Parts: sequence; structure tokens; C-alpha cells
Amino acid sequence: MPDSANLQPNDLRAFWMPFTSNRQFKANPRMLVSAKDMHYTTADGRQILDGTAGLWCVNAGHGRPRIVKAIQDQVAQLDYAPAFQMGHPKAFELANRLVDLTPAGMNHCFYTNSGSESVETALKIALAYQRARGEGGRIRLIGRERGYHGVNFGGISVGGIVANRKMFGTLLSGVDHMPHTHDPARNAFTRGEPEHGAELADELERITTLHDASTIAAVIVEPVAGSTGVLIPPKGYLKRLREICDKHGILLIFDEVITGFGRLGTPFAADYFDVTPDIITTAKGLTSGVIPMGAVFVCDEIHDTFMNGPEELIEFFHGYTYSGNPMAAAAALGTLDTYQEERLLTRASDLAPYWEERLHSLVDHPYVIDIRNVGLIGAIELKPIDGAPTRRAFSAFLKAFEMGYMIRTTGDIIALSPPLIITKDQIDELIDAIGKVLHSL
Ligand SMILES: Cc1ncc(COP(=O)(O)O)c(C=O)c1O
Repeated sequence: MPDSANLQPNDLRAFWMPFTSNRQFKANPRMLVSAKDMHYTTADGRQILDGTAGLWCVNAGHGRPRIVKAIQDQVAQLDYAPAFQMGHPKAFELANRLVDLTPAGMNHCFYTNSGSESVETALKIALAYQRARGEGGRIRLIGRERGYHGVNFGGISVGGIVANRKMFGTLLSGVDHMPHTHDPARNAFTRGEPEHGAELADELERITTLHDASTIAAVIVEPVAGSTGVLIPPKGYLKRLREICDKHGILLIFDEVITGFGRLGTPFAADYFDVTPDIITTAKGLTSGVIPMGAVFVCDEIHDTFMNGPEELIEFFHGYTYSGNPMAAAAALGTLDTYQEERLLTRASDLAPYWEERLHSLVDHPYVIDIRNVGLIGAIELKPIDGAPTRRAFSAFLKAFEMGYMIRTTGDIIALSPPLIITKDQIDELIDAIGKVLHSL
């Protein structure tokens, strides 16, 4: 008899939870048992308004019929097809529909299963592309302080979150980082893109001088950094990065794992900021979080450079058992149908002014030292408790959950990113609740 047969169904010991204070959670678990539209239901039957689209992913809302049906039909028809040297129609149909949504010229899609894998894939494409075009000396990758690019070794190497890096050895060599753009002294309480900081892009110029541009393959940034606390790019900053990359033959990668699929009111942040990168990484909203799937989009020039050798040879030695998995492809098609029918990829731009107004109404609440927003993203930064950073915001998270609201905190920042189906009444409810939470701290 396996050990598990002797355990209570809710014995919590075996599951080592990710990015979680395991002992604290298991002493007082927060269990979700079902979800529909904007709400979760807890094990004790309470409704929780989802202020974070799960983990920035459930863009279409929960339990959406088209997505559910697409998966149910798919599992009955074709559960799995090998991803290498074989295909199935939905993976191709999906790729075509996706590249119709991406910025002009980004006509090719490589499937992964998560944001972290999309990042690894993008970094490998960048290095291999430089080599394939005869620039094999370009071996360096440039990231940014406070960047989050998932948790695999490439991603944490170019990433800039200290806690995610410091335990894991020397990481990738040949990586450098630009400074982050967060500047509360000059930009606190900015609505939308901050005025100050475009000149920080010139740090890339400095880095190219230091290492010599001919050694640099790619620069990766989140157009809006999410996990590190919603850092919105200063006006003109991304355009300047693009110019410097162009000048030096460096690829620009936008990590759009959270900004992709309508978060800013446009399909991609590249559209919102009117800056087209060479590679875009996505995941999360691609399937509205329902089935793990990611996709990396590349421009023709990159793709076509790989398509040059003998036709019978594999062009790119990379891929996953579940790349383009039938269930994931079906979920993504159901998600795109939902986005299209309900015009969700542009809905955030309709809601953004209301969202901004309501969010900034918290300005005079206790401990608030900054509020920032773009699209349907918001952040409320709290004054840390002396000697106990993160504790104040985490208390806010616990209190909000107790009151029936899911918010997310990182450091002492409350980050909000509700499903794109949220109504104005629900925005009111969420912001009013956060106001009460702040007063209760
Ligand atoms: C910008 C960015 N890149 C990569 C990732 C990693 O995605 P995943 O957790 O699906 O591996 C995330 C996750 O939050 C992210 O925000």
C-alpha cells in the first residue's frame, strides 16, 4: 500500500510549493476549489474576486465556455502527438492566427510550455541566429536590474532579482545588466509612462562600449516589468533601446509573458509603445492560463537565416516534448476565439482611464508612497516596516484574502492585474476593498 493511501486527502506535507512560504501556508492554507468568470471559490465556500488574473494569466476570466469546450473536444479526438518530425493541424492553425496578431514582420512562432521556457528559447534563438549569420563572436546577453525572466538558468542570469539568483552559483557567463528604470524620487504617482528616465537607455550604449558591440548578441527586457513590482518604462526609453540595438546589430527581445494578449489594451506591449522588437516571448494569456503553453515570435530575418542548410537537416536543435501540445493548442484557439468575440485584446484601453482614476484615489491612504498604472495593470507601493521589508504588503495580501479579494504582493508593492473581463463595478469593489485593507494595517 503506498504511503499516500494512508494519508488524509488534504495532508499538505508532500507538495513542496513554489515561491511560497511553505510552513506558513500549511499552518493556515488558502485553498481554491473552483472558479467562474471573475471569482474563485474557496474550500470553505467563500467567493474571492480575482484582482490578479491568477498569476497575470487568466486574461479571459475563469471557466470560459469556449476554452472548456475546446479542451474537452480535443482530449477526445487527439490527446497527444509527437512534437518532433510530426505535426497536427491545430498547432499550425494556431501559429497562423497568432502571427496575425503580432507586430508586422513577426511571422514565425516557436512553441514552449511556460514563460521561463519561452525566455530560454528566445536566448538560444538569439545566440544561434548570430552564429548562423556569421557573427559567432556575439556571445553576450544583456538584461536589466529588477528584470524577471522566469526561473531557468538563462532567465535568472539575464534577470535582475537578487533573491532569485544568489543561491544558484555563477549562472551564465557573458551576461551584463542595464540599470532598472524605477525612480520614485522623480516619478512617484505618475499616471502611465513616467516623464523621467529615458536617458537610462544610454546605459546600453555604455555597455556596448565596455564589451564592444561585436560581442553582444541580444538585449532582453520586459516592456513593463511586472513581477518586480510594476515598473513602467519612462517615455521614449524603449525607442531609445531599439535605436541603440539597431545601431550595433544587437537583437532586441521583449519578454511579453505578462504584457502579451491584451494587458495594456493592445495585443502586445510592442503595439502599445510602438516599438517592434526582433523577438517576443509569451505564455500566460496565450491560453488564458488554462493549459501551460508559451510561444516565441520571431521576425522573418531570424527565421529565414536558420532555413539555409541542407533541407533534410534539423535547423534548430531545440524543442520540448510538449511544444504545440494538442490540448494546449486547442485551449489557445478557444482563448483567441474568446478574446475576439468579446474584444478583450482592446478592452483594457477602454477601462484604463477608469482604472487609473480609481487606483489613484488611494493616494491619501495609510502607508502609500507611490501608485502607478498602465493598461489594466496597477501598483500601490507601501512604506516598508522598519527592519521588516515585505511584511506590510504581505499583511495586506492576507487581509484582502480574508475579505474576499485576491491581490498580489512583491516586496512592499501591491500589484494588480485583473482579468480583462472586469466590470467598472468590480473595479470599484476591488479598490474600495484595498482602501479598507490599508486602513486595517
Ligand atoms: C516577464 C516574465 N517572464 C517570464 C516569466 C516566467 O513565466 P513562467 O512562470 O510561466 O515560467 C514570467 C512570470 O511571471 C514573467 O512575468
